[in-house]
Formats: sequence, C-alpha cells, structure tokens
Amino acid sequence: MFAIRSAPRGLEGVIAVQTRLSDVDGHNGLLVIGGYTLEELAGRVTFEEATYLLWTGRLPTLAEAEAFRQEIAPMRAMPAHVMAILVRAARRGASPIDALRMACSSLSLDVGSPSGSSHDADAANAKMLLAIFPTIVAAYTRLIAGREPIAPRLDRSLASNFLYMLTGGEADPIAARALDTYWVTVIDHGMNASTFTARVIASTRADIVSAVTGAIGALKGPLHGGAPGPVLDMLLDIRTAERAERWVRGELAAGRRIMGFGHRVYQVRDPRADVLSRVCEEMSNAVLHDRALFELAREVESIALRVLEEVKPGRNLRTNVEFYTAVVLQSLGLRAETFVTTFACGRCAGWCAHVIEQHAQDHLIRPESGYVGPYGLTVPRDRDVSRI
Ligand code: COA
Repeated sequence: MFAIRSAPRGLEGVIAVQTRLSDVDGHNGLLVIGGYTLEELAGRVTFEEATYLLWTGRLPTLAEAEAFRQEIAPMRAMPAHVMAILVRAARRGASPIDALRMACSSLSLDVGSPSGSSHDADAANAKMLLAIFPTIVAAYTRLIAGREPIAPRLDRSLASNFLYMLTGGEADPIAARALDTYWVTVIDHGMNASTFTARVIASTRADIVSAVTGAIGALKGPLHGGAPGPVLDMLLDIRTAERAERWVRGELAAGRRIMGFGHRVYQVRDPRADVLSRVCEEMSNAVLHDRALFELAREVESIALRVLEEVKPGRNLRTNVEFYTAVVLQSLGLRAETFVTTFACGRCAGWCAHVIEQHAQDHLIRPESGYVGPYGLTVPRDRDVSRI
C-alpha cells in the first residue's frame, strides 16, 4: 500500500557533502589530500604542515610552518581538570578511546577556548585540540600502565613530543618520522564514519569540541577505527607464516572477518597500506633491527588476500590501512589498546578541517528515513492517561 523509500544500504555511493579536503578514488586506489596525492605528501611534509594545508588550503612556507608550530606548542599543556578525568578513568579501567572522549568533551571547560561556531572560535579550538590530543593520549597510556604522566616538551614536533611523553626519553628521529608519516597518512579520508559524524554535528552550528567528541564516539567500533588492535592480535596468534593459511581459513569458516582487509570504498589496495608498509620496513631495519614482525605481516597479507579471493570471490577484499597501522604502531612501542587513540591524534586534524568547512557551508545535514514499520494501529479506547 505504501511505497518504501530507500537509499543504498549504509549510504554506499551517496555523495553527502562537497569538500575540498580529500578525495578517495576507490577504483584507482588514489587518495588526494588538499590537491596532493598521498604519495606526494607522505614523507615530504610534516604532520603540522599537512594540517596547515587542510585548514588553510595551501602548504605553509617554512616561516609559516615554524610560526604555526610555535603558536600551538604552548597549547600542549594538560589542563588540571582534564588530568583529573584521566586519573579517574584509569582507576575505573576505562578504555583509552572512552577516556579520550571524556577528556575531549571536558575541553569546553577550558576558559581560554572561545565557545560557539564562529570562524575565530573554530580556528582557536582546532589548534587547541590538535595540540592537546597527543598529550591526553600519552598521559592516559602511562596512567593505565601505573606510571606518572610526563609533561610535554614544547621544542619538538607533535610526533617527537608524543614519543617523548610516552617514555620520557629522547625520541629516535626515525621513529618520530615514522609516527609523523603515519599521522599524515591518516589525516583525512573522505566521508568516513567519524568525519561524517563530525560534519552532521557541525551542521547544526554546534561547536567544534562537540563535533570532535562525537567523532571519537564513532571511532570506537571495530569496523572503523578499532581494527589495528585485532590485526596485531591476529599476527601474534598466527606466530609463523606456516600457520597463516589454516588460521585465516578457520576464521572465515567460523563466519568471522579478517581484520585489516576490505574497504567500503577501495576496490583495490588501499594506497595508505603501501605508504605504511614502507614505514614499517624502515622501522624494522633502522630502529628495531628486527624484521620478524614485518616479514610475518607481509606473508600473512599475501596468504589472506589469496584465501579471501577464494572464499569470498568478487568482493575485492584488499589490504586496508589498518593492517600496516598495527605493525607501525607496535614497532613504535605502543600497546594495542592505544592504537585507536593514536590514530585519533592524526585524524583530529581532518575532523577539525571538516568542521570548519561545514560551518562555512552552513547547511543542516538532515536526510530522511525509510519507514518500514506498520501504519494504522489504534490505541485501545479503554486506556486512560489520568492514572499518571
Ligand atoms: N573478512 C572477511 N570477509 C569480509 C571482510 C573481511 N575483512 N570484509 C568484508 N567481508 C565480506 C562480508 O562478510 C560480505 O560477505 P558476503 O557477501 O558473503 O555477505 C562481503 O565481504 C561484503 O561485506 P560488507 O560488510 O557488505 O562490506 P562493507 O563495505 O560494509 O565492509 C568493512 C567494509 C571495512 C566494514 C569490512 O570490509 C570489514 O569489516 N573489514 C574488517 C574490519 C577492518 O579492517 N576495518 C578497518 C577499515 S579501514
């Protein structure tokens, strides 16, 4: 009687917003960020410079990059109320992503941050979020390990300072560059679930802290940001390449997904996987002096691709960004439970850029739903609300 109006499942293929920030070409395996291919940017510009590109539309000159670095450096300091939340969260055993969400939400209490969704408020709060995220994530990583957080250094890049705050030791320059390249690689990626969430919230003219807090919530699930932890578990469980095929087949037979493979948009290999695989190799050779995990990952990748093609033909399940993210972050000494929050430190720059863009476009995102419930039900006439 009533036609059910429907959109593609999961909005697949729907163009929800216009953006100048990034383009994901899933057929050709291309990721363009602010006009540059990922291959062009990764390893050539710093994370701070890539952020500047997203926020202003162009790469900074060296002087502008230094001025930007100096401007945001003091914003790394942890506000006392945020530290109190983290300490309490650690006592309760909250997951790192929950702790980051709670801490982020509380940043609205920072008296230095203007409220509202004006361009000036966005610009100030975006810088504050970018600067403080690594401090929060590093502090929480130490707190859940029963250690005292380490105050940030202001004379280092965000990546180098993050590694310093984790250990208290000077970061190896190659490791700092690896993390920096990782953050550039994941800085933005079209209309993924967390970015879409941020834009929907921003489209109501809500402030940037609200939008980014919502984005963190969207990042919690394993289908979006939570996959690298399980990827590492998988590699550690497989242990040797000889065991990989049996393991992968067993998972698929049990109806489980192989983490680190498959993507809604990419029909070919995720270009970020290539960049991160090179970063992994450099870390294995020059910092760890141990190629075992990297070699295992490469072998598991090729076996999983073959078996997935055989068991799930035609689904184009290729390596996604999370596969090598797991190995990069493990090689940096991070524990699996903090992978997703480390990712958030990089993606935060993209979320903020999208919020700024959405505020400039100033148009409410409000799709419709296809109702599939019944019509025409009636309430029994003897029901009476006077009992309330
Ligand atoms: N392992 C095994 N099978 C997979 C799979 C995986 N990693 N990813 C998708 N599939 C299968 C599904 O089971 C489904 O099979 P079916 O046709 O027999 O039912 C088919 O491929 C399509 O899956 P669907 O969930 O509709 O695709 P999607 O576009 O919604 O999925 C992901 C995208 C990322 C959610 C999905 O590939 C996935 O869950 N990957 C593992 C988690 C991961 O790595 N996430 C990080 C993404 S960057």
